[in-house]
Amino acid sequence: MIDKTGRPEWLKESIYAARTSRRVRICFGLGLITLLILIFTFAFAPSGEEGDGRFHRVYHWAGDIWHSDGKQPPVNHTFPIDVGYPGPTEMGKPAALADEDNFTGDPARGNSPIQTTIPEVGRFDLFKHMGNMSPYFSAPDFGVSTQKFRALAKGCRIERVHILHRHGSRYPTTSSSANLIRKLFRDMKATLQFSGPLEFLNTYDPERLGLELLVPLGRQQLFESGVQHEMEYGNLIDADLKDHGKLFIRAGSQQRIVDSAIAFMQGMFAQNWTQKADLEVQIEAAKFNTTLAPNFACSRAGREETEPGLVWGRDWYNEYLRNAVQRLKPYAKGVELDGQLLNAMQQLCSYDTVAFGRSDFCGLFTEQEWLDYEYFWDLVFYGSYGAGSEVGKAQGVGWVNEFMARLTKTAWNESTITSENRTFNNDPQTFPVDRRFYADFSHDSLLTNVLAALNLEEFNQPLDLHRPDPRRKFRTSTIAPYAGRFVFEEISCEKPSSDIHARWFGSGRQSGSKSVQAMQTDDGREHYIRLLINEAIVDLHQLKGCDSRADGMCQRDQFIKALAGRNEWAHWDKCFD
Ligand SMILES: *[C@@H]1O[C@H](CO)[C@@H](O)[C@H](O)[C@H]1NC(C)=O
Ligand SMILES: *[C@@H]1O[C@H](CO)[C@@H](O)[C@H](O)[C@H]1NC(C)=O
Ligand SMILES: *[C@@H]1O[C@H](CO)[C@@H](O)[C@H](O)[C@H]1NC(C)=O
Ligand SMILES: *[C@@H]1O[C@H](CO)[C@@H](O)[C@H](O)[C@H]1NC(C)=O
Ligand SMILES: *[C@@H]1O[C@H](CO)[C@@H](O)[C@H](O)[C@H]1NC(C)=O
Ligand SMILES: *[C@@H]1O[C@H](CO)[C@@H](O)[C@H](O)[C@H]1NC(C)=O
Repeated sequence: MIDKTGRPEWLKESIYAARTSRRVRICFGLGLITLLILIFTFAFAPSGEEGDGRFHRVYHWAGDIWHSDGKQPPVNHTFPIDVGYPGPTEMGKPAALADEDNFTGDPARGNSPIQTTIPEVGRFDLFKHMGNMSPYFSAPDFGVSTQKFRALAKGCRIERVHILHRHGSRYPTTSSSANLIRKLFRDMKATLQFSGPLEFLNTYDPERLGLELLVPLGRQQLFESGVQHEMEYGNLIDADLKDHGKLFIRAGSQQRIVDSAIAFMQGMFAQNWTQKADLEVQIEAAKFNTTLAPNFACSRAGREETEPGLVWGRDWYNEYLRNAVQRLKPYAKGVELDGQLLNAMQQLCSYDTVAFGRSDFCGLFTEQEWLDYEYFWDLVFYGSYGAGSEVGKAQGVGWVNEFMARLTKTAWNESTITSENRTFNNDPQTFPVDRRFYADFSHDSLLTNVLAALNLEEFNQPLDLHRPDPRRKFRTSTIAPYAGRFVFEEISCEKPSSDIHARWFGSGRQSGSKSVQAMQTDDGREHYIRLLINEAIVDLHQLKGCDSRADGMCQRDQFIKALAGRNEWAHWDKCFD
């Protein structure tokens, strides 16, 4: 029977009993509480295989209902570009090189709209010795003849490619010591007076530069790189587009990194790049994990005790600029010139040139002072981000772990997590390992971290704090200039016949014959890794276990084995007190 309120008989009776008896009310209450506890226990406990005996089955059933039964199609990731965290930025004032250029040399600037010929230092190109502030240029050889071995041997082809790319030319960072000149003018403007070679400072506008953002020249560098890599690896890109619809590209969230990735893809695909590529932007900020800015996950990063590079650099500029201080001192009134200020002026030569096309600071220094300035950056980078820092390798190994997953086409290994973001890396949509073309966009510091974590012996040699070795391999200008790039190529080759054998292994290299027997894989081809840093081949023989070869390549299995100990030597634990 159902009455006019719509309540069935049993409910009416229960309500009546509850109204009249306190004991029944308590029973109802307890029953309700027990029911709630049960629901919450099953619903919010993690679902999984663990969980013992009696409750396991019911737990699993309830958990599956709550967590979804796994049969629902996964929500498709949409790769938003605007994830926030662009970092601090400040736009600069416009350039006007056509008005300001008074250089009477070669008037044809072509595709390089900056004045890099400095009459005061003759033929020496100081722009190739500016450390991380060098505009992109192809690196000279690192010990392998790139000219001889760049062309693949007969029967070889490139299977897959992994690119780690730095952003292009930018304004000074917020923490840059180049900003000291701006501060000097803000604080002392009224009393400053310059003459002789420093005369130009009387009309210099120290507020003209912005902060952090990519400048148009930086955009050009990345656009050209996109064009270049589309030409080099268009077949791999095309195959990825056919198999996966879109390319998979990653970038850190800072504005210049995102802008660089976009310029690169515009070089590849023009304005329609969004239809051709997914850009995964990973947040660069405190408390976030990303291998593209590992410093945020490494709490001891950025301290003087773990990153002595700046201290080494400071000692060094006080030494190499001693003569310049004496030389220029008489022309500055109202300020005591010192090594720090002159080093800042050397940096402004680079910053003004990439932002405005030319700089009067460039002519103030001698060839030797530019070479020593280059070494200043080597000390800073080696000591703070490279093998000279106890957290240098630690910050690079996260990217290397990801690279290894991609190389072996296996899921990322969560048990060795360092700066990786497990949310991204445990999802094949946000960390695919089945692509032929990968490109990640990041900072000079990360390129240096990764170089250290790879344990390439020649690049990890200690630097003398007072005597630059002209034959050193660690040179920031050639490793991480603006728009610098590490390109790892996976190459496969037919089993070499004897004449190709002679070309590859050189004459009399005894390890050659050994490698011919090894490494026959199921597709009947031999597999190799080749590393190009800014287009120059790196000799991978410096890794333990890689055969010595004239072409610098390493057999794929040997390479993977050589890096098996990476998490031990990288010491992620040093990132924490
Ligand atoms: C996700 O994308 C795949 C492939 O494009 C499609 O088949 C699937 O229906 C999509 N899933 C959802 C939930 O939209
Ligand atoms: C260009 O102008 C700067 C000052 O603006 C001056 O110091 C320099 O000598 C000039 N160079 C030439 C080649 O005229
Ligand atoms: C770009 O995309 C639009 C819209 O899909 C299309 O009409 C146009 O033809 C594309 N342009 C190029 C150069 O592919
Ligand atoms: C990992 O990345 C995701 C997606 O950007 C983000 O929501 C999450 O906060 C990140 N986690 C950490 C610890 O960085
Ligand atoms: C993950 O790394 C650990 C530690 O190096 C190793 O023991 C384990 O075998 C790895 N797992 C896979 C699936 O490779
Ligand atoms: C972030 O990194 C830390 C340190 O390796 C790790 O403990 C944590 O699980 C990571 N978080 C995510 C979401 O990846």
